[in-house]
Order: sequence, then C-alpha cells, then structure tokens
Amino acid sequence: MTTIVQSINYNEAPDTLQSEIAVMLHQVWPDACPMPGVTIPKAHEKELNARSFYLHIDGKLVSYAGVVRKTIKHDGQTFNIAGLSCVATDPEYHGQGLGLRTVADATQWIERQGDIDFGIFTCSPSLDSFYNRAGAWPVVTDVVLIGSRNEGALSSESLDVVVLMRLFSEKAEAYESILRHTTINLDFPDGQFL
Ligand SMILES: CC(C)(COP(=O)(O)OP(=O)(O)OC[C@H]1O[C@@H](n2cnc3c(N)ncnc32)[C@H](O)[C@@H]1OP(=O)(O)O)[C@@H](O)C(=O)NCCC(=O)NCCS
Repeated sequence: MTTIVQSINYNEAPDTLQSEIAVMLHQVWPDACPMPGVTIPKAHEKELNARSFYLHIDGKLVSYAGVVRKTIKHDGQTFNIAGLSCVATDPEYHGQGLGLRTVADATQWIERQGDIDFGIFTCSPSLDSFYNRAGAWPVVTDVVLIGSRNEGALSSESLDVVVLMRLFSEKAEAYESILRHTTINLDFPDGQFL
C-alpha cells in the first residue's frame, strides 16, 4: 500500500492527475464540483497558483488538500497569504488518518515557503479539532473573512463556518495588531471563498 503524500504545482499537474482530483471532489461535493467530461473542471483558479497534496492507495487518489496563494492589501499593508482549499478524503477511506496526513504536509509546506505571511481559511465548526491536530490551525473568533466587498460576497459571518488563521512571517507577527479584531478581505471574484 503506497501512502506517501505527493505534491505538485496544480497548474503543472498532468491532465490525468487533475482529472483524478476532479473525480474525487465530485464524489465529495457532487453539487459544487462537476464530474470531468470533455473538459476537466479546475479545482483551483490558475491565478491562485495552487500547490496540490495528494495520496494514492492501490492506484486510486483517495485524499487531497490544495494550498492556494494570493497577495492581499490589508490596512495599507501588503501580505502574501495562503489557505487550504478542497480538503477531502474519498468517503470509502475516511477515518484512516489520511486527511490528517495531507493537511499536515500541506501546512508544513506553507511553513517552509518563507514568503507566506499568514495562512487563513474557513471550515465547518465540527472540523476545528481536525485542523488543529493536522496543522496547529487555531480558530480565531475575532477575525471575519470575506470574499470581497461586493454585495452578496461570501463571508465567514453569513456561512456556518469558523475562521482558522496562523501567522508565519516576522512581518505578520509585527503587524499582528492590525490582523486581529478585524475583517480580512480576500478580494476574490464573486462566488469564490476559502
Ligand atoms: C474532513 C475530511 C477530509 C477528513 O478526512 P479523513 O481522511 O477521514 O480524516 P482523518 O482520518 O485523518 O481524521 C482524523 C480525525 O479528524 C476528525 N474528523 C475527520 N473527519 C471529520 C468530520 N467530518 N467531522 C468531524 N471530525 C472529523 C476525527 O476526529 C478523526 O479523529 P479520530 O481518528 O480520533 O476519529 C473528510 O471527512 C472529508 O472529506 N469530509 C468532506 C469534505 C470536507 O468537509 N472537507 C473539509 C472542507 S473545510
């Protein structure tokens, strides 16, 4: 049984791998993620420069975690941020520690980059301990995450989610006061969120 977490830049991943990722995401989120057909639905927008972490067992992709990256402006400062996205394990393989391993590797990769100021994303409240165990991600109750300032944009306040956030760089530590008790705007196109 091969259970090594592998990693690749999503934009450079071969079609076969992008297709396997899409099939698994469709299984987990059938309404939001279409099944690959003639075209392969993208798990991550190209401009988010995603890094993919994935596990194969018996030749099948069974667990996945994406890391997306973006530069944002917040309170007059520029920050390079990263967030976990499309974290999923094939339902037939739940409860075997695979999700913990993909998220742990993805988090360690973020830590190693050196140019990422902070990590931020949301999850359902029931998964807070999963992310805490996998990557020491704490829930921050004083930070609201919004997709954009547009009317109807997605927000951690209107969705049933908690915000997870870790500061990585010296810059982020130095500016911690403006990164707490605040609203952080991802400045995403409509409909996108983390
Ligand atoms: C979340 C998910 C990726 C976990 O994958 P997994 O491979 O089953 O996770 P693991 O086996 O590594 O889980 C380890 C621990 O996390 C916790 N956990 C896992 N899935 C959980 C869930 N859905 N809700 C609450 N806790 C969960 C369990 O407590 C488990 O601990 P245990 O071994 O002591 O029981 C998987 O449940 C999944 O694909 N869910 C649907 C998609 C989703 O919600 N993704 C997250 C988006 S933010």
